[in-house]
Amino acid sequence: MGRYSVPLAPQLADFAAVAAGQRVLDVGCGSGALTGELVKRLGPAAVSAVDPSQPFVAAARARHPGVSVQRAAAEELPFEDQLFDAALAQLVVHFMAYPVAGLREMARVTRKHGVVAACVWDHAGARGPLSLFWEAARVLDPDVEDESQLAGAREGHLAQLFREAGLHEIEEGILSVAIEHSSFEEWWEPFTLGVGPAGSYVASLDPKRQARVRDLCREMLPTAPFVVSSQAWVARGDA
Ligand SMILES: C[S@@+](CC[C@H](N)C(=O)[O-])C[C@H]1O[C@@H](n2cnc3c(N)ncnc32)[C@H](O)[C@@H]1O
Repeated sequence: MGRYSVPLAPQLADFAAVAAGQRVLDVGCGSGALTGELVKRLGPAAVSAVDPSQPFVAAARARHPGVSVQRAAAEELPFEDQLFDAALAQLVVHFMAYPVAGLREMARVTRKHGVVAACVWDHAGARGPLSLFWEAARVLDPDVEDESQLAGAREGHLAQLFREAGLHEIEEGILSVAIEHSSFEEWWEPFTLGVGPAGSYVASLDPKRQARVRDLCREMLPTAPFVVSSQAWVARGDA
């Protein structure tokens, strides 16, 4: 899903008013899509990043030399109080074990009146990049657990989590991304990698059921090349 993260990053950075001269933390950096946008705006020395997954830490370090990338989860950030001007989490809150604790930690390491911001795909509104996949999976298995119940993935929920985490002056919005896919196979390939809830679901199916989901997705998508438009809920608040 990295292709979708890259165009989302400047929008999240704009929403959080990230600008030269600031020191900013990227929480749940993955391989560094948002980190790259922060480096462009601030320079590597002003950017810190964390992720609990060692392979992602290694990937982000390799991709962004000069950025301090540490292995850590949002819920336990290895930083002193009020170190950053802003702390951002792109497509991460719904993976946090304790989203309110994670956001509270992001607020703790952000200076007073600094910004905490996060975005999560609108899974509940069926407007995420994976929504068509889950629709197909549900046709074949009505009880399938998609991502719509995850934290922040429905209207108003990110703002509610921000309130529970003690943030102030909370604003909510929508970010949009449109990605062109050159062929069905190019669209389908990431689902076969076993990554994330959709990848794990595909991996759990026997080859016959995998083929049924894939064929149904192919029927539901327009003829290639096609564009997938996706929306993410975004929220920001003052620490
Ligand atoms: C969908 S990826 C997003 C990566 C990156 N922010 C981007 O936009 O491309 C989700 C990331 O959240 C990380 N993650 C999962 N649980 C986390 C937690 N509790 N705290 C921080 N990051 C977490 C995962 O390791 C993964 O790198």
